[in-house]
Amino acid sequence: MHELPIPFLLGAASAATQIEGGDVSNSWYDWYRQGHIKDGSSPAVADNHYTLWREDLSLMEQMGIETYRFGVEWSRIEPEEGVFNEEALAHYREEIQAMVSAGIRPLLTLHHFTNPRWFEAMGAFENPRCVEYLLRFSEKVGRAVGDLVPDYITINEPNVYAMEGYLAGEWPPGKRSFSAYRRVLTHMSACHIALYEMIHRVRREMGFTDTRVSFAHHLCAFTPQNPHNPWHRFCTSLAQRGFQDAVTNAMYLGKVGFPLHRHGGIRPGQWCDFIAVNYYRRITVAGLSMNAPQGAAVNDLGWEIDPRGLARVCQKVYDLLPRPIFITENGTCDNNDLYRSRLIYEHLKALCDAGLPVERYYHWCFCDNFEWLEGQSARFGLVHVDYTTQRRTIKRSGEFYAAMIRSRGVSDELYQRYCEVSYPQSGEEVKHE
Ligand code: BGC
Repeated sequence: MHELPIPFLLGAASAATQIEGGDVSNSWYDWYRQGHIKDGSSPAVADNHYTLWREDLSLMEQMGIETYRFGVEWSRIEPEEGVFNEEALAHYREEIQAMVSAGIRPLLTLHHFTNPRWFEAMGAFENPRCVEYLLRFSEKVGRAVGDLVPDYITINEPNVYAMEGYLAGEWPPGKRSFSAYRRVLTHMSACHIALYEMIHRVRREMGFTDTRVSFAHHLCAFTPQNPHNPWHRFCTSLAQRGFQDAVTNAMYLGKVGFPLHRHGGIRPGQWCDFIAVNYYRRITVAGLSMNAPQGAAVNDLGWEIDPRGLARVCQKVYDLLPRPIFITENGTCDNNDLYRSRLIYEHLKALCDAGLPVERYYHWCFCDNFEWLEGQSARFGLVHVDYTTQRRTIKRSGEFYAAMIRSRGVSDELYQRYCEVSYPQSGEEVKHE
């Protein structure tokens, strides 16, 4: 029996840079110009959603998507320091208005990895003044669309942003410095708290009392390869703390611990109205190696699949601060859409079995998009995008998702039709489209 009633809202997620196209004044466009994108594709193309948003919205309606997480592009709204583009704000307002009229609940992300060029040039989140700049921009957005949007994500995945850009050196600005990593995480935590307070204040001034704010935390299910090996256990807890737990403590409760620094803006409190979890994978730790073990179920990028890990990471944050849970991202890179439906089913089942108070689930992503360093070649969407024609086609997994929304769950028949497939295994060769 695979029947599964689903008691929470089913939605989809995206991010401005990954779908909009057209903007050339941001840090990821510069990163592309410097030749870092593996397949050479440009974020200025992406899905051309900035122009085609009506088409995307009507596809969402067709699929029954109940709530949509999306972002606004800072560099479009503030292309030069202190200069605001009212047209861009009006554009987002129109899009959100249409979404709301279609009965789709918006969840708005203010910062999702990409910076305006001017902000990047002044050191971005290494610069202590980052709080002031992000706050000014976010307040501008809050005042422009606050009457339409009650729910906000301040910052997407500070840990991934800081790790990739300042420790691994793979993303802009390409640094490899532990002290920069610490600085960035510290400042981002202070930014989150400042934004949390500002959004509540601004919406209160507008007469609203239903505001909810959080940040989207990227959580991995860290697991020692051999739980009896003390070295594996030690490295697991170190990795977990350095990558995610310290950020959880700072941004949920204002508690500072290594690797963060003390900062006047990180004060004790309760700084999230809901738990927002982005979850993709287990990380198996065998000392300093973090590769998927031979034969483990993996996706096309080699990420280890562990649906129960999702419930485990949510439970841990819930124990720290019991709040409603939004899965703000979950999905996979499955270029040929072979096993995405099974993966969705299993993650939803793990959540339901755990009995956690989940309110919303956002599948990442609504349509294939610009996947950062991987460019267009890593497909995460429920909807296929042909990048030469910009034609959208609902995938089989998109059909499955829509059917699940229609029937408020998964029937045995639906399961058999879409989910009886196997995952790739670590060590096997992956076939690409
Ligand atoms: C990010 C998305 C990204 C997704 C898949 C998350 O870390 O928030 O922007 O596309 O993972 O890699």
